[in-house]
Amino acid sequence: MTMDSPFLVLGIESSCDDTAVAVLEEPRRIRASLVMSQVEDHAPHGGVVPELASRRHQEAIMGLVRRCLWQAGVSNPMRQLSLIAVTAGPGLMGSLLVGVMAAKGLSQGWEVPIMGVNHMEGHLFANVLAHPDLKPPFLCLIVSGGHTEVHLVRSFGDYRLLGATRDDAVGEAYDKVAKMLGLGYPGGPVIDRLAREGDPDRYQLPVPFKGSSQVEFSFSGLKTAVLWLVRREGEALSVPDLCASFQRAAVESLVSKVKLAMNQTGVRTVAVSGGVVANRELRRRLEDLAGSSGGRVRVYLPPLELCTDNAAMVAAAGLWAYRRGVRDDLSFRADPSWELSR
Ligand code: KG4
Ligand code: ZN
Repeated sequence: MTMDSPFLVLGIESSCDDTAVAVLEEPRRIRASLVMSQVEDHAPHGGVVPELASRRHQEAIMGLVRRCLWQAGVSNPMRQLSLIAVTAGPGLMGSLLVGVMAAKGLSQGWEVPIMGVNHMEGHLFANVLAHPDLKPPFLCLIVSGGHTEVHLVRSFGDYRLLGATRDDAVGEAYDKVAKMLGLGYPGGPVIDRLAREGDPDRYQLPVPFKGSSQVEFSFSGLKTAVLWLVRREGEALSVPDLCASFQRAAVESLVSKVKLAMNQTGVRTVAVSGGVVANRELRRRLEDLAGSSGGRVRVYLPPLELCTDNAAMVAAAGLWAYRRGVRDDLSFRADPSWELSR
């Protein structure tokens, strides 16, 4: 590698049900980013089946690496790549292992340094990739099928968890409610679409932890309330009205806790990430929050392809860590419950 050749990072992500590979050129140029979704494999089961996910990752990963390098113009990875960043947790153990072992093999074979990346730090870096002006301190709300949490980013590498869900993640609640209503998987996009035609005032549903003074979330009570309502209403149930009422309660809980986190920390910049960022009501409410603040509140939303699981965000988290001096070797392990911050 010559002195002026670009710093290229190969990112690998396999923590849940998407196999993803990307090549990132320092600092923010995504040369290629490929995601192979397993949604159709898991859809008949109404949720992710861990064993099936691992098998699909294993079938997909090497072909995806090859295609991604080709698309990125990397013909000689041994010479051209500067770092391999791979998600090492949190996630499903069997899924994580596929990505981690593939990355370790490539790192050893090509003699390229490797870095194990926290998946949540990856989500946070989706915003860093998309918004060069985003600087710490800021709050990061991560909302996906597996996570609902708010972190305070004091600086890159220094995170404090302000609050998380006590049970289901918000995306998971969408998926479960959709399953109850026979709407298929994943449930978020369908409920979001139906909610637009429904009346959110039709059914009274509880907003989780509405009055509490802690940044905390819970969606299992809301899900149970929906279940009772479905049983009680029977044939009379209006699915669009229920979707609208459920969505309003779920989004209200997210937005109210973001406001609380702002009040508690005095930090008024929030970056949002995870698959639920696609939700129209959430985007609208957050944009209203910023719009009505007279410029005091700033909200960052990455483009959708960076919100859902992808490997460009993992490459970015690895790159920034490498540049602040973090080093890894082949001894790191996949850790299904790796916490980003405490
Ligand atoms: O980040 P992601 O692709 O995967 C992980 O969970 O890591 O997020 C997927 C989740 C699913 O639960 C899906 O139902 C939800 O995001 N989702 C939505 C919407 N689009 C996707 N939830 C609400 N509204 C949406 N428009
Ligand atoms: Zn994710």
